[in-house]
Amino acid sequence: MIQFRRLLPEPGTLDLSQLREALALPADANPERPFTIANFVASADGRATLEGRSAPLSSEGDRVMFHTLRETVDAVIAGTGTLRAERYGRLIRNPEARERRVESGRDTEPLACVISRSGDVPTDIPLFADQKSRIMLFTAAPVPALPDNVEVVELDPGELTLTTVLRHLRRHQGVQRLLCEGGPTLFAALLHEGLIDELFLTIAPRLAGGGRGPTIASGPSLAEPAELRIRWLLEREGSLFARYELSPQNP
Ligand SMILES: NC(=O)c1ccc[n+]([C@@H]2O[C@H](COP(=O)([O-])OP(=O)(O)OC[C@H]3O[C@@H](n4cnc5c(N)ncnc54)[C@H](OP(=O)(O)O)[C@@H]3O)[C@@H](O)[C@H]2O)c1
Repeated sequence: MIQFRRLLPEPGTLDLSQLREALALPADANPERPFTIANFVASADGRATLEGRSAPLSSEGDRVMFHTLRETVDAVIAGTGTLRAERYGRLIRNPEARERRVESGRDTEPLACVISRSGDVPTDIPLFADQKSRIMLFTAAPVPALPDNVEVVELDPGELTLTTVLRHLRRHQGVQRLLCEGGPTLFAALLHEGLIDELFLTIAPRLAGGGRGPTIASGPSLAEPAELRIRWLLEREGSLFARYELSPQNP
């Protein structure tokens, strides 16, 4: 049974069932949008990729955190760069995790949300071939030849903001808890629109030592740095798992 060492707020341990319990996110936090969390892994020198992917930074503990967060939420959102690089498939592969979701009154799978301005969506990835997955695509351009399991929300380019997308998810899909899995472009846009409530960040015990890999948020800096409050810090095999809360007044 996997166990994390808890360093903050008070020293202790956290096993998988305690982790699941601790990840119960607020349901009715905001009538205009879901409670929104982001999850990333970065090297100790702040890179979000090694050789173009996050996998070389990951670890067993990081994968447990990643899948437990997926299990917790009603929807997962990712940009097309992440879908393409990480070759997304079905979001919940473990049958027991699907059963736990059903037992707690949720759908077997979170809704998979994709956002693309250009309409250049990587429809060849396993996610689109999986008929059990429910997918919602927010786009500003038509996307030809999409499978039946994709619902398209086409918006005018000026309307395609994350505020609009999150409002749609809350009002029309009943999404109360949303997980952003990146990438850096999408996360930066969410930060700029002040839509992130919590950040889960795994700090891998690795150094990239230069290179062109992005950090977890790319593009222009925020007008003011977003203030974080640490809710917990866990450790497992040298990886650190920080859970931060963003101040409500951000950005
Ligand atoms: N370390 C980690 O935890 C982690 C997590 C996720 C990803 N990554 C890595 O990050 C890299 C991908 O980075 P990325 O920044 O390109 O990924 P991304 O944010 O997933 O994808 C960027 C694309 O998503 C769409 N998009 C993002 N924000 C949008 C917005 N506000 N409005 C409309 N469309 C929006 C656009 O698609 P269109 O171009 O189609 O318009 C944009 O080009 C990969 O190497 C991946 O492995 C690392």
